[in-house]
Amino acid sequence: MNDDVTIDPWGSSQSTDYSGIIDKFGLSSMESVTVPNPSKLHRRGVIFAHRDLDVVLESKRKTEPFGVLTGLMPSGKMHLGHSMVIDQVSWFQQQGGDVTIAVADLESNATRGVSLSDGKKIAREEYVSNYAALGLDPEKTTVYFQSERNIVQKLGFQLGKRTNLSELEAIYGFDGSTNLAHVQAPLVQAGDILHPQLDEFGGLRPIVVPVGVDQDPHLRLTRGLASKTNWFNVNDAKMGLQVGVSVQEENSIALGVESTGRVNKEKQKEVFSKIVDRISSLGFSDIMSNPKHGTVNIPSATSRDKSSIRLALLSLEREMGGMGLMAPSSTYHRFAVGMTGDKMSSSKPKSTLFLHDDVASAEKKIKKSFSGGQSTVEEHRRLGGDPDKDVAYQYMMYFFEEDDSYLSEINHDYRAGKILAGEMKQLCIDRASEWLNNLSEMRDQTAHLIDQFFE
Ligand code: TRP
Repeated sequence: MNDDVTIDPWGSSQSTDYSGIIDKFGLSSMESVTVPNPSKLHRRGVIFAHRDLDVVLESKRKTEPFGVLTGLMPSGKMHLGHSMVIDQVSWFQQQGGDVTIAVADLESNATRGVSLSDGKKIAREEYVSNYAALGLDPEKTTVYFQSERNIVQKLGFQLGKRTNLSELEAIYGFDGSTNLAHVQAPLVQAGDILHPQLDEFGGLRPIVVPVGVDQDPHLRLTRGLASKTNWFNVNDAKMGLQVGVSVQEENSIALGVESTGRVNKEKQKEVFSKIVDRISSLGFSDIMSNPKHGTVNIPSATSRDKSSIRLALLSLEREMGGMGLMAPSSTYHRFAVGMTGDKMSSSKPKSTLFLHDDVASAEKKIKKSFSGGQSTVEEHRRLGGDPDKDVAYQYMMYFFEEDDSYLSEINHDYRAGKILAGEMKQLCIDRASEWLNNLSEMRDQTAHLIDQFFE
């Protein structure tokens, strides 16, 4: 089933069968989520899938803290595709999330051959300057380098023992010839994603990772790694929820299992009463503790209570000496088509607009871009154009046009043959010019804020 749907985070092509991706990798569709204050990317279905987004939306609703973490690979110029992640980050920031951004200088060094010092320069001049211009708030955003945050590397190393080559093979399609940089990079990325929960970096709270869907393999890996460290698992039961205690090498003494395998009944009782206390402090009363089976049942709890029970038990785990890591949430955006019809890439300047492009070169690229129009005016008037394939229209939808009703009007008129392909391009050129000019002005106005992002 869906054998042709693959995701390779380092690949040069990208599957666009989004519903196939949802099915195959177990993502949740955004269709069933009601997003408060939706951004244009939400309204237009560009953000199409998520994992556990409800956990983060619930924190927002209760005005409880949540964090946002994403990363950038400093390997070239920042282009429109990269700005989509920043749109998502910025939206979460407006909803109250604190933001951390990883500069994947180690990954870029190992997988793309970019030196650490070039990586630094690119991150600052290409990316962070545009983050400031795109409206990220420097007071609520921290940008760091993988190579400089020891704890990230340490966490990646420690989590390595929770996986093995077979799992990486299954997730990424690795084989015997795979360079080990591709094994290390995902572990460091797991460190990136999980470290904001550590006490020195804001403490236990839900973390959401907005990314392009090419990054989902890393999220699958990271979510698995976090769960495997957990001492207490919360799952659906026949009635309500069930907590399962997971005895592991590093926690067996704390959980009352001696090295001989003998159970210390007293200690075990103590552990289970701590679990029951935590759960009852959330307001549940009918709690059934079954130390012999290693379980605690909460028949009156529903799926909606899962994350608050999880959080309570993760904090108990931390007090007892465990890491208490919560599996991250994530959101995924679709990829805008490259201007030439294939994938956008920094190494193919004609495939996209760079955020530093001037209006003249943007105009040139849009004029030459892949069109959804018919080959003659006569045919176009008769058969209409296809906005789904038309780069000019697509770029207005993804990037430049805020007004939904105007967008649906030109969509309709294009299909009806009233707007010609050249006219659509001109509309896009006008909007893109406005957008790029505005961005460049904002870059000048916010240049003095760049240092603050690194503090
Ligand atoms: N691997 C990501 C990329 O190729 C960059 C990255 C590093 C990242 N760490 C991250 C993305 C953490 C999201 C979260 O672009």
